Amino acid sequence: MKSGADRTGGLFWHMRALVSRRSLWAPFRAGVEDWLATWTPPCDELLLVGPSAGWCLPDAFLKRFARLQAFDIDPAAQPLFRLLHGGALRRAGAELTWTQADFFADIAGILAAYPKAAILFCNVAGQRCIQTPDARLVEAEMLRLQLLLQGRCWASFHDLLSGHASLILPQRRLAGRMQARDLIASYGIGGEWYDHSTGQLLPQGAPRRILPWRFQRGRVHLIEAGWVEG
Ligand SMILES: C[S@@+](CC[C@H](N)C(=O)[O-])C[C@H]1O[C@@H](n2cnc3c(N)ncnc32)[C@H](O)[C@@H]1O
Repeated sequence: MKSGADRTGGLFWHMRALVSRRSLWAPFRAGVEDWLATWTPPCDELLLVGPSAGWCLPDAFLKRFARLQAFDIDPAAQPLFRLLHGGALRRAGAELTWTQADFFADIAGILAAYPKAAILFCNVAGQRCIQTPDARLVEAEMLRLQLLLQGRCWASFHDLLSGHASLILPQRRLAGRMQARDLIASYGIGGEWYDHSTGQLLPQGAPRRILPWRFQRGRVHLIEAGWVEG
């Protein structure tokens, strides 16, 4: 049986990221960097939820914070993250601490322990449907998470939909939430699209971007990225 980390991260994920980050994933990584540059929470501290090795996270963003606290269930994530970003963080004088733990097992407790931190969900919310296959439970968890985050500065980029498409899809900027079927129609893409049950995580009126991520040839994840002021 696969562990939680294998189902959402793990060695196969890291191998794929290593091979793809500078090629197939480069436009997506640039999109994440461009979007993160627009998020400037007035906080010295950042909570990273599910950062993995930070394959898609830019140094320029991370080193804006004096203290970073990461939560990830994958044991390989911390050493790889330090390998990729440790040098830049050290040079910037930023302090990184790490907890190998399930953030979703005690959301309220963790948020309370870091009352002044901004929070970035690093492409992790869309993985909940792998860990909890009941879509209604995941949708309820997203709504609860949004409530628990009220008053906090937070941002998330996450899988909204995934499926097969060979076209290179453009980014979209949206003023607020868009129904999945309307988004699919707006891209003119057919076939079956898997809904990751994250559509209600960002508040209805929060501006957002849709960043198409060519995860592998012929397979695209539509990543929703948005932030909320505290
Ligand atoms: C798609 S990867 C994130 C990739 C990351 N944005 C990057 O730039 O490399 C999802 C990560 O979330 C982590 N994760 C999944 N469920 C989690 C949970 N319940 N608590 C903490 N981390 C979790 C996985 O271990 C994995 O590293």
